[in-house]
Amino acid sequence: GKSGYDHYMLKEIHEQPTAVRQCLHERVTELERRIDVEALEMLSVPTQVQFVACGTSYHAALYGVRLLRDRGVPATAFLASEYDAGSTPVGDETLVVGVTQSGETADTMGALRGANSAGATTIAVTNVVGSSAARECDHVMYVRAGPEIGVAATKTFVSQQIALVLLASELTGEYDDDLAAALRDLPGQLQTVLDDSSAREIATEYRGADAYFFIGRGYNAPVSLEGALKMKEITYKHAEGFAAGELKHGPLALVTDRTPVFALVTGGSNPTKTIGNVKEVETRGAPIVAVTDGSADAGRHADHVLEIPATHPAIAPVLGNVQLQLVSYWVANELGRSIDKPRNLAKSVTVE
Ligand code: M6R
Repeated sequence: GKSGYDHYMLKEIHEQPTAVRQCLHERVTELERRIDVEALEMLSVPTQVQFVACGTSYHAALYGVRLLRDRGVPATAFLASEYDAGSTPVGDETLVVGVTQSGETADTMGALRGANSAGATTIAVTNVVGSSAARECDHVMYVRAGPEIGVAATKTFVSQQIALVLLASELTGEYDDDLAAALRDLPGQLQTVLDDSSAREIATEYRGADAYFFIGRGYNAPVSLEGALKMKEITYKHAEGFAAGELKHGPLALVTDRTPVFALVTGGSNPTKTIGNVKEVETRGAPIVAVTDGSADAGRHADHVLEIPATHPAIAPVLGNVQLQLVSYWVANELGRSIDKPRNLAKSVTVE
């Protein structure tokens, strides 16, 4: 059941501290300074990594790309439906990672089959034990989010993000004390965000907006895309996410005083530059909501602040995303949408 929540989506948003604890369980040993992902122990550092995924899982893959590049591993994310192992250089030194919550998405399965026939080593990062992706791939890493009923992916996305942090660390054998400490603190910080968020008031104020825009740089860029996808999916309203620097290359023409802009401004992800972009929309009269740990004094340029606790730069977008999930949820709720089963959508998309 929904354990007293009005929707599975809200229940699952609130299950995220637990989902993260489950994903981390017995995989990080701070005392020995080790990260162990049982399924990946045998792998050596790949020459390149290609992610294949769709929708929200693709946004997790984009986040994974950055984690690997930060550790010196060339990595690319492909929309699974656009992946063609025939025209993409793939060899036995290539590691192809399929990120798929359900493990049944037809586009992702097609890409993984192609990668396997091209001789790549494949890993499924999935939530469902024994799923098609788990069976297709050479290796499988479970994200351990627990069952997700709402069509909108919420806790599985957070679990994918954490799984990819662990995967990137395991593959490169890099142990970072600050990152490990941030992971340890994350469930508690997620709880703080859930307890203290002012997303509901912001959603009430802006439920009538013409469109919603989301911007962020670096580690925050994939979350700006995810914020927009969630908003479209459950509110049926126009929403777009951009890497903050792209705004002035076209989308800025859409910005008016009826289009709130949500800016992710956190330490380590070029906060000062993002504030520069915030000023661009400020002069067009757009309402600004800063999702911030206080970096670059973001609150000073914003009409509202959605606060997140200070953490490692790579973990900040995990917390920021939860604020955006809550905004979408409450806008959809205000509009009386069918939150757990949005029109035209299915939980798992088994056609190409
Ligand atoms: O099961 P998968 O992770 O492969 O699903 C991929 C997408 O269909 C999925 O993430 C979709 O975008 C979500 N419903 C968005 O909330």
